[in-house]
Formats: sequence, C-alpha cells, structure tokens
Amino acid sequence: MTDNTPGMKDVAAVAGVSIGTVSNVLNRPQLVSEATRLRVQAAIVELGFVRNETARQLRAGHSRTIAYVVMDAANPFFNDVARGVEEEARAEGMVVYLCNSNQDGSREREYLERLREQRVQGVLITPIDPVGERLAEMPGRGMPVVLVDCQSADESQCSVAVDDVLGGELAMTHLLETGHERIAFVGGPMTVQQVRDRHEGARQATLAVDRPVELVRMETEALTVAEGRRAGERLVGLPAERRPTAAFCANDLLALGLLQVMTRQGLSVPKDLAVVGYDDIEFAEAAAVPLTSVRQPRELLGRTAARLLLEEASGEASHKHQQVRFRPELVVRASTRIHRP
Ligand code: RIB
Repeated sequence: MTDNTPGMKDVAAVAGVSIGTVSNVLNRPQLVSEATRLRVQAAIVELGFVRNETARQLRAGHSRTIAYVVMDAANPFFNDVARGVEEEARAEGMVVYLCNSNQDGSREREYLERLREQRVQGVLITPIDPVGERLAEMPGRGMPVVLVDCQSADESQCSVAVDDVLGGELAMTHLLETGHERIAFVGGPMTVQQVRDRHEGARQATLAVDRPVELVRMETEALTVAEGRRAGERLVGLPAERRPTAAFCANDLLALGLLQVMTRQGLSVPKDLAVVGYDDIEFAEAAAVPLTSVRQPRELLGRTAARLLLEEASGEASHKHQQVRFRPELVVRASTRIHRP
C-alpha cells in the first residue's frame, strides 16, 4: 500500500489470492472462477481499491487516450472542434486530454513533453507558429501528430483545415462588392499561419478589382476580444479621411471586440464600419449586430482530425498521411450591407 492508497497487493492479501489472480479479475475475468472473482471484488469494495489506469497503460506501452493541444481555450472555435474530436474518440473507447497552450510556445512544448511521457496514443494540435522542430520530432518518437486548423507544409503528417486563403478572399470580395474602398485587415500575430493565409486571400481579392482599393493591415498581438477592442480604439481614433469603412477580422473574437468599441463610441455597424469575422462561432449570430462571418465546419474538423489520428495510431499499414482541406463558406448578416458612397 503506497501512503494510504490500497494497491493490488492489499486486495490479494484480503482476498487470499495472488496478485496475478487480482490482475485477471480486473483484466481477464473470464479466466477466474465465479467464487474467486466474488472474493476479490468484495476485497476491492472493502478496501476502496481503484486501479491505476495510467500505470497499467504505461506497463502495456500504450494508453487509451489522445490529446488535443488548442491555441486558446477561451475561444469557442476550439471548444466546437474539441466536441467533434471527443465524439470520434469516444466512439473508439478513447479519452481526450484537452491542453491549452494559450498561444505560449514554452507552454506548448511543455505539454508535448508531458503527453509523450504519458504515452498518449497521439496528439492533435493547433500550433501557435509554423510547424517547428518540436513537432517534427514527434512522429519519429512514436507519437502520431495531426495538425488541426492548420495546413501541413508537406505530406510528412496529417492535417485538417479549411482553405484560409479562399476564406480571406470570400470575406474581402464581399466587402469590395458592397462598395468599400478602404478596408482594414485586423489580425495577428502574423506568425500564425491561419492569419497569414487569411490576409493573403484578402490581398489577392483586392488585386482582382479594377478600381483603387486600399487594404490597411492592423496587426494584433493575439486573436482575442481584448485585441479586437484595442484595434477598434485605434480605428475610431483615425482621422475620418483615413478611417476604413470596413474591417475584415481574422476571427470572430476580434470582430466581437471591434463591435463592442463601435457600440461604446455610439458608432453604427455597418453604417460607420462594416465588420466581417471568421469561424462563425455561435456568438457571431447572437451578437448585438449579427456578424457576417466566414464559417469553418468546426465539429467536422475535429471529427476528421481525430479519425486520421486514430487510424495512424492503430498502425494500420494502409494509413496514408492526408492533408484534408475543407471549403469555407461566407455567411452574410447585418454587420455588412450595401455600401453606397
Ligand atoms: O487557430 C487560429 C485561429 O483560427 C483561431 O483563433 C480560430 O479562431 C481560427 O479561426
């Protein structure tokens, strides 16, 4: 017995059997007579014994767990993706560890180390920056890794994302078609691949029109509501002749922060500033001014990523790495409208 936690040795002593018999009752009850099984189960109840599943799984060299390392647990986008992961994993009898890197590189690295020690079957991750060496090591050290919401640069690992360049194009084209000529791109840091791709799509859309338009990049330190508020304060502080009439935000949280500042300043959305977000989380539609947003199939992203990870972790020879890319969809709501100068 370690400290006062009863172990298998204590159960064996109380039931008057060997430790192997206790193990059989727990793992292969069909090998044990009913009388012995009942004696052992009575000892388990009497002692309040709980099996150490982690130790058992470590001894077995594998675990029935996978992990999802998200970039920001406060962002509903990741909760929706995680719901899809959990549905798929649960169907296979697996448990999902959810870890929040909080956009902190050292915290992300620490989680990856702990998860390898825990012998999880594999890791889903939305990395905070381009897939670095710490991830490249993972597959080589028996740890399948699938990128989520982020496109793998090559075929060395699986990834599941939407086409963020197309998503940026859809958002920007919508604002251009509604007459805007000076449009802010609100998002950052630009080291996040999704932000870079959305900005690139917006830039490409401006090149496709035959009239002068201006894309004003307003980089943020994170993809949060607070950073959206800061960007909103910078926007409203611009002189009228330089102020954009529309903003495309790299995700809905930034857009909601922007909406909040516009409302506080008594400015109208979309009259004074049209706003487009990205993800189409539940709060986009529920916002005071329902938000136009680029929808990501969040639960489908999660289910697909989990299926690929479990397939790779199972060691099926037929597994081939896949870089799945879904098509985003523009959902138009009240925060944008026909803008006639
Ligand atoms: O994963 C980076 C960002 O892309 C997240 O903030 C999420 O909103 C997705 O849009």
